[in-house]
Amino acid sequence: MDFTETLLSWYSTHGRDLPWRADKDPYAIWISEVILQQTRIDQGLPYYFRFMKAFPDVYALAAAPGEKVLRFWQGLGYYSRARNLHEAAKEVAGSFGGKLPGSSRELMRIKGIGPYTAAAIASIAFNEVVPAVDGNVMRVLARFFSIQEKKDSAKGRKIFENTARELIPSCCPGDFNQAMMDFGALICKPQKPLCPECVFRGHCLALQSGLVDQLPRKNSRKRPRMRHFHYFFIRPRGRAHGCFFVRQRKQKDIWQHMYEFPLLEAERQLTAPELLADEGFVHLLPGIDAGHVNPIPVTLKHQLTHQSIHAAFFFVDVGKAVAEKLKRLYSCTAPADFDQLAKPRLIDRFLQEYV
Ligand code: ADE
Repeated sequence: MDFTETLLSWYSTHGRDLPWRADKDPYAIWISEVILQQTRIDQGLPYYFRFMKAFPDVYALAAAPGEKVLRFWQGLGYYSRARNLHEAAKEVAGSFGGKLPGSSRELMRIKGIGPYTAAAIASIAFNEVVPAVDGNVMRVLARFFSIQEKKDSAKGRKIFENTARELIPSCCPGDFNQAMMDFGALICKPQKPLCPECVFRGHCLALQSGLVDQLPRKNSRKRPRMRHFHYFFIRPRGRAHGCFFVRQRKQKDIWQHMYEFPLLEAERQLTAPELLADEGFVHLLPGIDAGHVNPIPVTLKHQLTHQSIHAAFFFVDVGKAVAEKLKRLYSCTAPADFDQLAKPRLIDRFLQEYV
C-alpha cells in the first residue's frame, strides 16, 4: 500500500472544511497556524473568526494597539504568541511590503515563526515541498511505522522529519501536511484512536504489535511548578458601582502586559494574618491592616503547561485616605473599563463567579 496515496484519498473525502483552506491567503494561514499552536481546532476557530474580522490583513494588525491584539487573544493562553505575532505583523507591513516571504527558510526569520509554522505556511500557501511536523504528525508516523525514538529528543525529531520528507508528494505538499494533521486529530487520536475504521489498519505496525497506546514515546515530564498567588480585590468603600484597583504585569513572566489585581506571591498558600505579617505586604498595600482584609478567601486553580497556579482572592474595602495612597501604585478602574483590558482567564473567572 502507498501511504501517501491512501492518506490523500482519505483527506479528499474526510478532510475538514476549514476557513483558511479555501483561498490560501498567506496571512489567513499564518494567523490560523499561530492560533492553532497548542490549541485544538474547536477551541481555536471562534478566535480565528473574531481575529480575522478585527484584523483582516497584515496592515490592520500592524496598526492595532498591542493591548487590543492581546485582548483578542484573551483566554487562548500562551500570550507570547500574540505579542510575537503583532511584532511580526509590524515587520511584514513595514519591511516586506505587506507580503509574507514565500519560503520556509525566510519565514523562519520572522518573530514567532519556528520550523513547524514556517513549513505549514510555506507548504499550504506557496506549495513548498516541506513537511510540517507537529504532534499529530509524529503520532501518525510513530504508530504506522512503529517508530520507537522519543518525539521530544533531537534524534527523534530528526527521524520523524526525515520520515515525513520521504512521504510528502510534490503535487500537493500543503494537502499532505493538512491531511496528516486532520488524520491525527480525527482518527489517529492520542486517546481512543479509531483503529477499527482506519484506512491503514491492515498495515499499521503499532496496531499489529499492540503498541498503539504506547506510541509515540516521549520523555517523562517534569512535575509542573506550583505557584501560590494571593490577589487583593480592593474597592474604595461607599461607592455603589465603584472602581477596584488593578495594575499591569510588567515582569518577564507568565501573562506579561496583562492586567490583574495587586498580587503577593509566596512559597505556599498563606492565611490572611500570615499575609499581613509578610514583609512584602507593606510595600504592596501600604496603609492596609487586618481590619480591611476579609479573611474568607476564594481559591481558584489554573493549570498551565509547566506551572500550576493556586490563586487565593481576598476582598478588601478601604476608606478614602487609604484609597488615595493606593492610587499612587495602582489604577482604580471601573468594571466596564476593566472589561476592555486584556487579563488572565483566572481574573475573569473570579470576577464572573464571585463579584
Ligand atoms: N493544526 C494546525 N494547523 C492546522 C491545519 N492547517 N489544519 C488542520 N489542523 C491544524
